[in-house]
Amino acid sequence: MQNGYSCGMKAYRLLGALLRNFPPEKAHRLAIQALRTPLLAPYKGSSNAALQQTICGLDFPNPVGMAAGFDKDAEAMAGLLRQGFGFVEVGTVTPLAQPGNPQPRVFRLPQDQAVINRLGFNNNGLRAFSDNLRHRPAVGIVGANLGKNKDSANAIADYVQGIRAVYALADYITINISSPNTQGLRNLQEANALYQLLDALLQARKHLEAAIERRVPLFVKIAPDMTTEERAAIAEVALYVGLDGLIVSNTTTARAATLKSKNYVQSGGLSGAPLFASSTKALRDMYRLTEGKIPLIGVGGISSAQDAYAKIKAGASLVQLYTALIYQGFGLVHSIVDELPNLLERDGYSHISQAIGKDA
Ligand SMILES: Cc1cc2nc3c(=O)[nH]c(=O)nc-3n(C[C@H](O)[C@H](O)[C@H](O)COP(=O)(O)O)c2cc1C
Repeated sequence: MQNGYSCGMKAYRLLGALLRNFPPEKAHRLAIQALRTPLLAPYKGSSNAALQQTICGLDFPNPVGMAAGFDKDAEAMAGLLRQGFGFVEVGTVTPLAQPGNPQPRVFRLPQDQAVINRLGFNNNGLRAFSDNLRHRPAVGIVGANLGKNKDSANAIADYVQGIRAVYALADYITINISSPNTQGLRNLQEANALYQLLDALLQARKHLEAAIERRVPLFVKIAPDMTTEERAAIAEVALYVGLDGLIVSNTTTARAATLKSKNYVQSGGLSGAPLFASSTKALRDMYRLTEGKIPLIGVGGISSAQDAYAKIKAGASLVQLYTALIYQGFGLVHSIVDELPNLLERDGYSHISQAIGKDA
């Protein structure tokens, strides 16, 4: 068993090292293809009762999710779930297909274990996305992350169109208003704009819920680049409208003076290790401001079980990751899922729910 596991880990590392020889977008495409084949060995661990939670009516086998942006067109859901993720978020999808920004637009910052991307919502559009989602695995939690088209004149209409298209197909829906690469998108985080957007979306949900007799939870994904006042305003709107959850956070436009890789000069959203501190602070703030009343998903710079655990103690019920997978491969998911129960036990907790927000 031990041998099989370490052989598997070696194969993962080899594949990872191989992929890093390709330019980022080519490597990404190859990773998606690999996930669609039996090439990658599935995670063989069993679900640990200490990590199982029911959140917004959904049964999560573990709290570690694939963050949005990796599987933008919902092509590799089954392969990702086989890697041991407790849930997978696909998208961001926009109503119409769009090419995104000119290439190159994804840059590795290896010395910093980080990435800068300015993809700009490249995706095949809602129709292709929904066709793929219709063939989603029956078992496993899949969330759909929605955006707006670059040239759209009516952002709210784009999100309403998105929610209608995916409602019957997804386990939860994320409203992404925090990508830094679509001009004006982050303005939707301003309290009045957010209220209008959520009001329209919750109205739309009311009709959809009645039609299919299932209430699909609605999450909003926010940026880490905000003042405490701006966060407080978001928390107030979220509690007022009865939002189901918040995802904290997307990539940052800030650049720490400590970045070492030459690509730090590129414009776009920074993710990975240098995002950990600011996104965890944003998460802790949101937990306090929402008084622990709504579930939070902690994202940003998670590269170990310790990092995932720190997010949980800062207030996250669930976590997601992306960038560290580029450097460590999917073996990281296995090690986080395997290690978390030990970290809980070390602190005297028998279940993850006892640790949530303990450092907030
Ligand atoms: C290449 C790339 C593309 C991304 N695309 C999206 C996206 O389409 N929608 C979204 O909500 N977040 C997107 N993200 C942000 C991630 O979901 C996540 O919030 C962020 O990268 C922080 O987590 P990490 O440090 O673990 O990568 C993207 C991130 C990267 C690196």
